[in-house]
Amino acid sequence: MNVIRFSDLCAQGQVCGKRVFIRADLNVPQDEAGHITEDTRIRASIPCIQMALDAGAAVMVTSHLGRPTEGAFKPADSLAPVAQRLAELMGRAVPLISNWVDGVSVEPGQLVLLENCRVNPGEKKNNEALAKKMAALCDIFVHDAFGTAHRAEASTYGIAQFATVACAGPLLAAEMDALTQALANPKRPLVAIVGGSKVSSKLTILKSLASKVDQLIVGGGIANTFMLAAGLKIGKSLAEPDLLEDARVVIAAMKARGAAVPIPTDVVTAKTFAADAVATVKAATEVADDDLILDIGPQTAAALATQLKAAGTIVWNGPVGVFEFAAFENGTQTIARAIAESSAFSIAGGGDTLAAIAKYGIEKQIGYISTGGGAFLEVLEGKTLPAFEILTRRAAG
Ligand code: 3PG
Repeated sequence: MNVIRFSDLCAQGQVCGKRVFIRADLNVPQDEAGHITEDTRIRASIPCIQMALDAGAAVMVTSHLGRPTEGAFKPADSLAPVAQRLAELMGRAVPLISNWVDGVSVEPGQLVLLENCRVNPGEKKNNEALAKKMAALCDIFVHDAFGTAHRAEASTYGIAQFATVACAGPLLAAEMDALTQALANPKRPLVAIVGGSKVSSKLTILKSLASKVDQLIVGGGIANTFMLAAGLKIGKSLAEPDLLEDARVVIAAMKARGAAVPIPTDVVTAKTFAADAVATVKAATEVADDDLILDIGPQTAAALATQLKAAGTIVWNGPVGVFEFAAFENGTQTIARAIAESSAFSIAGGGDTLAAIAKYGIEKQIGYISTGGGAFLEVLEGKTLPAFEILTRRAAG
């Protein structure tokens, strides 16, 4: 990867006394009361921040949190819980600064967190005037937000165009190195698990994986659409009938290569979507009109586990059922344990996937855990992410 690395600038003594603006991805899940439920991204962002402080920089860090309305800040959009967690993890004060676009007061050795960058008008559309103002805040722009590397926004792309120096932070660089190396020449069989609610949000990745992987395991609402495409009934389960043809194209493409999209042979159903709903295991051919499919059945889970244990490389994005509800977690749990026990090199990414990995305590048995969701998928698709395009261009001079 031909980009300037922040670690090199630090090692060369080029950071001391400089104003460093770090774009991190601190977009973490929160419960309804705003408490952080999973902090992998915060922990993963600390090495870059610490590196900048150790190098003697005046350090500004920002991130988006959620998808707020620009120019209409609400308390729920605030990075305050993130500032608090960061302060606990780093053992130092992390002041949170609002309305920072026109100037930030920070001295070498200090660290400040700049409030949710997505409330700044012009952020999403990469407004040039906003990007220039942000670039003017710093001497060095560090892109360390791998989870947002697929977005070309003012704080991820425009600022990189206009900052005096624009470089890759250690997390961004490590993610890209790990993913490209693992996927350049994967050990076969290569098995991908793509779960989640909608085919539409993962259609391109499904199509792209159909030309690369040996097994394409689909889960959640995506699996329901594939079951429909395979001629099965799915009752009132979440699905996208408009995309049946696309699902058939994916199945046909896999079949033509001697590969497969395993269709569940049994499922776990309920009459309502609730944690205390009665769970019924039934054959995939027996789904009633008023059934909701909330998990794959034990027979399907066992068959997939066997395939995962025999895999050479596993790519995992998305749970295969509603694993948040105990009665519907067996499929995801079985798959998680099979990945953990498999000798395959495994790569996992995406918010729900990280939550499942944490729930089953298998972090140490996963080969590489990515902090990216959409960005992770776009790398798997083989796309050049905007972050790498602009950082490569800036490195070229
Ligand atoms: C993510 O959660 O995948 C990243 O933080 C990007 O968020 P976004 O999809 O709202 O841009």
